Amino acid sequence: MKQAIIVLYSYSGNTKQLAEILIKQLENYYEVDVISVEALDEPDSFFKQAARALFRKKAHIKEENINFDLSGYDLIAFCTPVWAFGPAPAMRTYLTRCTGIKDKTVLFFATYGSGAGKNKCIEQMRSLLKKQAPGKTESLLVQQFELKNEDRIIKKVNEVVKILK
Ligand SMILES: Cc1cc2nc3c(=O)[nH]c(=O)nc-3n(C[C@H](O)[C@H](O)[C@H](O)COP(=O)(O)O)c2cc1C
Repeated sequence: MKQAIIVLYSYSGNTKQLAEILIKQLENYYEVDVISVEALDEPDSFFKQAARALFRKKAHIKEENINFDLSGYDLIAFCTPVWAFGPAPAMRTYLTRCTGIKDKTVLFFATYGSGAGKNKCIEQMRSLLKKQAPGKTESLLVQQFELKNEDRIIKKVNEVVKILK
């Protein structure tokens, strides 16, 4: 069976919910591993979080049991909330450190609130990996309140997964 990995950062649970839907759908075609990225230095205040993201700062992330070499996977999915028009700092750290992306199928998934900068977030994620020349890439952006309609999200996720099959 083909191998997939989900790299997930979620602060308040929305992106985790999306990633769980993705995992279920991928499990129809792949063996799926999950990496939950944890920030060791996440500030509690929204403004500090947003400022750090806006200035494209990286977070210190927990490294124990975290695999940065993704060369063993056929499909790699990165799931993050949109923070200040980009990925959350913990995801930025992981994206800058991971290896083994060349020619791999890569999915960029993000959840967002107002929608400000949501496409920029995907662009930033793509550009952080550009040097590693991924193969086929797809993205999915989901508004946080859309997650209440799980059937609709399952349908959307499935459409993306089917394209990649
Ligand atoms: C610090 C911070 C910055 C955010 N910046 C944006 C933004 O620029 N654009 C947007 O649409 N939503 C923004 N949001 C909303 C989140 O993207 C949204 O709530 C997301 O679903 C949270 O995912 P999570 O529950 O997995 O952490 C921001 C939220 C936080 C906490």
